[in-house]
Amino acid sequence: LSANWPKGVGRSVLPEIDSTNAEAARRADRFAGPEWILALHQTKGRGRRGRAWHDPAGNFAASYLLRPDMAPAQAALYSFVASLALQDALVTATGRAESFALKWPNDVLLHGAKLAGILLETSGPYLVIGIGVNLVDHPEPEPGALRPVSLMGETGLRVTPEELLDLLAPAFAHWQAQFTAYGFAPIRTAWLARAARLGERIVARTVTDTHDGTFEGIDADGALLLRAAHGLRTIPAADVFF
Ligand code: BTN
Repeated sequence: LSANWPKGVGRSVLPEIDSTNAEAARRADRFAGPEWILALHQTKGRGRRGRAWHDPAGNFAASYLLRPDMAPAQAALYSFVASLALQDALVTATGRAESFALKWPNDVLLHGAKLAGILLETSGPYLVIGIGVNLVDHPEPEPGALRPVSLMGETGLRVTPEELLDLLAPAFAHWQAQFTAYGFAPIRTAWLARAARLGERIVARTVTDTHDGTFEGIDADGALLLRAAHGLRTIPAADVFF
């Protein structure tokens, strides 16, 4: 384990798996402490809202399995904890602080395009935080969706999945300690300071509606705050378009 690896946290590296989130959920049945599960290749990577996640060898795919011991709505805020940690790890790996930003609810952008996504799933009292980063390759762009990019394609920098995990695990432990000690407030403040398009016009598409307005921030539950023509809207779940 690397020198900065957090104490008491497991680390598994698998050559190939269906989905690290699926594997983490299977391991929840015999939970023996928090653990990072990294796969060098996923055959059935899962994205948000039932979408597939493209994960060829060389890209980063990992899940963190933990037992949050908090109300489910509070545990869901771990997605913001993970976004902050992932951005920190990417900045450390590349030395390019100004290139990255966060997009609600939990994407990491590079040069304004989609570099990484996060998918939270629960399994009884356990939480699985799945993180995918396009290190060397990205999927085909989809009409209307944010342009996907890879770290290699945008910067020419080669970061391996293991290197990124060794930066991510301590960064996650840092933000997790803030979250468990002080709650969502410091996480929210840090997240807003890194948010893309704050104060600008965005479009939020929920399952039933499309809203456009000014991105005002996030509330204490992590919901999107959108200032629309008819007032301030609180949107708990949506896809955001710029
Ligand atoms: C998104 O739709 O933006 C979220 C993508 C999350 C992908 C990661 S890759 C590791 C983990 N295992 C999965 O099957 N999905 C997540």
